[in-house]
Amino acid sequence: MTSNFEIGNKKRYKVSNYRTYNDKVLDTYDNCIWIPIFKLKDIDRSVVQELRDDIDKIHILDVGCATGRLLGTLSLAGAKNLYGTDIAPNILKKVKEKAKKQNIDIDLKVSDAEINIPWADNRFDVITLTGVYHHFINPEKALREMYRVLKKNGRLIIIEPRFPMVIRQVLNLYLKIFMHEGDHRFFAHEKITEVSQSVGFRVDIKPENIARFMLKTVYRK
Ligand SMILES: C[S@@+](CC[C@H](N)C(=O)[O-])C[C@H]1O[C@@H](n2cnc3c(N)ncnc32)[C@H](O)[C@@H]1O
Repeated sequence: MTSNFEIGNKKRYKVSNYRTYNDKVLDTYDNCIWIPIFKLKDIDRSVVQELRDDIDKIHILDVGCATGRLLGTLSLAGAKNLYGTDIAPNILKKVKEKAKKQNIDIDLKVSDAEINIPWADNRFDVITLTGVYHHFINPEKALREMYRVLKKNGRLIIIEPRFPMVIRQVLNLYLKIFMHEGDHRFFAHEKITEVSQSVGFRVDIKPENIARFMLKTVYRK
């Protein structure tokens, strides 16, 4: 049974995530310390590498796109059909401003991916989810939404931090007590795969270490 404390805490995580990305880090996110520490630009390069064969033809949705770093890199690499969604409206305004300056066309919509991804069924060839899974309170619901909007045989690329078990447990305990900018819980990749498979995805490319402490797994609908 879920206690009221848990429900209250989950709401607080959402609020803390929203405040962080809607207000607090708007002007600092692109230069945040985690980018060099976790070598986050390697994430973008790895996604481009994955999609290079037909990058100019496929429709790519970035869920939890924040300031649009990955979307910008994809555009530079030749992607033409780009879509982004995030729970924080202000951060999407930033992406819109940047895209306008750079003359890039990106379809951007605000959404809580755990409730509804605001596009029709079978819409995308690829969905990217980089550094977002640990923000979800109910990852299964978000995965169901991603499954719905992906085309048959479409790819879901999940990139998440990968920590040794003890570090993960300590971090999760810390998050439970103190909460950190909407980070909710870090999962073992086996758990992420288990939930992905339970909603219908199959593993297409096994987990691969990229960047620093990051694991990339490619799933197929
Ligand atoms: C750590 S940032 C990662 C951003 C980006 N994908 C990257 O690689 O740098 C997490 C992002 O996910 C968004 N987010 C968190 N929960 C979400 C949800 N339920 N639905 C949509 N976006 C969400 C946050 O607002 C934030 O912009």
